[in-house]
Amino acid sequence: MFTDSSFTFVLFGGTGDLSMRKILPALYEAHRAGMLAESGKIVAVARHMEDRADYLEWVIEHVKPYVSKNGLDESAWAGFLERIQFVKLDLGKPEDFALLRDAVAGLPGIRVFYLATGPSLFVPICRALAAVGLNTNSRIVLEKPLGYDLKSSNAINDAVGEIFAEEQIYRIDHYLGKEPVQNLLALRFGNALFEPLWRREWVESIQITIAEELGVEARGDFYDNTGALRDMVQNHLLQLLSIVAMEPPHSMDSDSVRDEKLRVLRALKPIDPRDIGKVAVRGQYHSGVIRGTSVPAYATEPGVKANSNTETFVALKVEIENWRWAGVPFFLRTGKRLADRVAEIVVNFRAVPHSALGPTALRPGANRLVIRLQPNETIRLYCLAKQPGEGMNLASVHLDLAFDQFFREGQMEAYQRLLLDVINGRLALFVRRDEQEAAWRWVEPILNEWAAANKPPKPYAAGTWGPAASSAMLAQHGTYWLEEEN
Ligand code: BG6
Repeated sequence: MFTDSSFTFVLFGGTGDLSMRKILPALYEAHRAGMLAESGKIVAVARHMEDRADYLEWVIEHVKPYVSKNGLDESAWAGFLERIQFVKLDLGKPEDFALLRDAVAGLPGIRVFYLATGPSLFVPICRALAAVGLNTNSRIVLEKPLGYDLKSSNAINDAVGEIFAEEQIYRIDHYLGKEPVQNLLALRFGNALFEPLWRREWVESIQITIAEELGVEARGDFYDNTGALRDMVQNHLLQLLSIVAMEPPHSMDSDSVRDEKLRVLRALKPIDPRDIGKVAVRGQYHSGVIRGTSVPAYATEPGVKANSNTETFVALKVEIENWRWAGVPFFLRTGKRLADRVAEIVVNFRAVPHSALGPTALRPGANRLVIRLQPNETIRLYCLAKQPGEGMNLASVHLDLAFDQFFREGQMEAYQRLLLDVINGRLALFVRRDEQEAAWRWVEPILNEWAAANKPPKPYAAGTWGPAASSAMLAQHGTYWLEEEN
């Protein structure tokens, strides 16, 4: 994926957490791997720094430690710093944008504006860019959260859409950049083996889990106004679901892939408010112990209201109303302060119709595909095999695709892949406006119902797998979360 597409990458929010932890380290990695055109420049924009020297000092102090985790190549690092320029700009002063226009005037290639800022700044920044003529020959990257509900997200999209064409807008969902998600596409559409089984006749249920050990960290204030449904389900989980469930696209070009994902999002069965208790579980963590360390309750985290009703855990049963998936439950789950950090997709295939080999072959989950997104990316296919020795006793065995064994080099962090895609004009892994709207449309009735009920979320102890109601929901369908298998 080496490229000579030259670029000027303008980073708004250049001193923010995201720039420090993800964006600049990803650009460094791309630079180190020789994937950035030599002439490409990074222009950081911030208000609180005086000049480039100040900014570089900040980068060395705050970004270098993240970069060094994977071993630092000093000469690549020095070269990376040379790419960085700086513009002191107060986002509240549209007239300051003339400084930016002058700074990028002589710089090469396509201009990428990365908005690593709060969503309330998206529209003012876009307008100020347009006012100084910077909305042509350019792309704009919008970070989540893009709005708080359908209305606010539409308002942002409408306003940004007046300035940038849809093909210039890159709405980032970093889960789409994760290597195993790409591999899921390769597995499904590059092999004849799985696709015939990938349907209601052979699939009993599907689980998608994104579990975190971390709490809300320093983001208590933001999170308390957001909650897990908006923070993780509306975007990451529904995007993963749409990749798992989509029809084979005609090609991997951006609109073919996104059209198919959109069809899935539009086919999600609307949740009937009367059923919400049966198909949706919301929880909030109390104090507990994670890996031997006591952690505090959500309601005592900095920035969180003491009587907060915000959910830090969600489990949902989702159905897709189309021929391929009718009647197959998709169980989605995400939460903070859970027992383990794991993101995975579990496809449970149906048991054999008749077992001549005893009851083991009829057990649910005898054939199962587990796509582990993190940690330890693997795709694992469970089958039954005969145990050695006398008699026909079956036991579970598995075939593993452990990427790091097959491919020792070339692994890429999600942000690195996505930033290279923006620079090179590849939109397939970015969320199109209509997808985002469809996701909000589906999620909103749940949000409304929860708000109207005004009930506290179900408590769960930190370090567990969430409220018991989450397991009970699956038990009603004769299944269980993967970690509950004994
Ligand atoms: C972000 C959420 O989008 O994803 C965070 O806002 C969450 O709350 C994060 O912690 C999880 O991402 P990852 O890649 O660490 O699983």
